Amino acid sequence: MYKGSFITLEGVDGVGKTTQALLLKEYLESKGHEVCHTFEPGGTQLGSQIRSLLLNPEHSELHSMTEILLYAADRAQHVFEVVRPSLEQGKTVICERFVDSSLAYQGYGLGLDMEGIRQVNRWATGNLVPDVTIYFDADPAESLIKTKGDRIEQRTLEYYSRVREGFLQMARAEPKRFRIISAQGTREEVASRVLEALGGRI
Ligand SMILES: Nc1ncnc2c1ncn2[C@@H]1O[C@H](COP(=O)(O)OP(=O)(O)OP(=O)(O)O)[C@@H](O)[C@H]1O
Ligand SMILES: [Mg+2]
Repeated sequence: MYKGSFITLEGVDGVGKTTQALLLKEYLESKGHEVCHTFEPGGTQLGSQIRSLLLNPEHSELHSMTEILLYAADRAQHVFEVVRPSLEQGKTVICERFVDSSLAYQGYGLGLDMEGIRQVNRWATGNLVPDVTIYFDADPAESLIKTKGDRIEQRTLEYYSRVREGFLQMARAEPKRFRIISAQGTREEVASRVLEALGGRI
């Protein structure tokens, strides 16, 4: 067990994770918490190079197995360089995307072997599991409008609907860890849902 709490934010591209991470960080700091806000892929210097490999639209030859392993490699570096040390120091870690994103995008979205993705990620993270995961739910057709069209974002709306269904299924299967929040409404409305969902957990 760590002194700090590990909070992950999940949801499809453009749903508002970064916006809400920053608002939550501000709130928690005002309450005296030390907060580490970080993200995947690319939350370390080395990881930012893995991120550009993953998201570059020119890399159409990138095999789905390579995609899974690159995300896991980025995550391993991030966990051991940033997340674990911060938790050991007693910080609250707010991390945008974690293992659930791999399961939703590569597992549910691309239809790849879920158990394989779980195993690789268990190994890559030393079996680190978030204390709380907030899933921001929205119709992908609406949130995707706000994104920039990198290699992953160029996938079809049907793909994103499977990703959304995947997140919802995982969230329902693990109600103790997951909180499902509607991403609709103003930033402030969503932020107050986040605090409500976290109530008592941090
Ligand atoms: N509640 C909201 N209402 C309207 N616009 C919003 C809201 N929340 C965020 N936005 C805007 O939508 C865009 C995407 O938000 P944000 O970057 O926070 O999403 P994200 O989930 O982090 O996306 P990505 O997956 O691409 O990192 C930004 O331009 C942001 O300012
Ligand atoms: Mg973001």
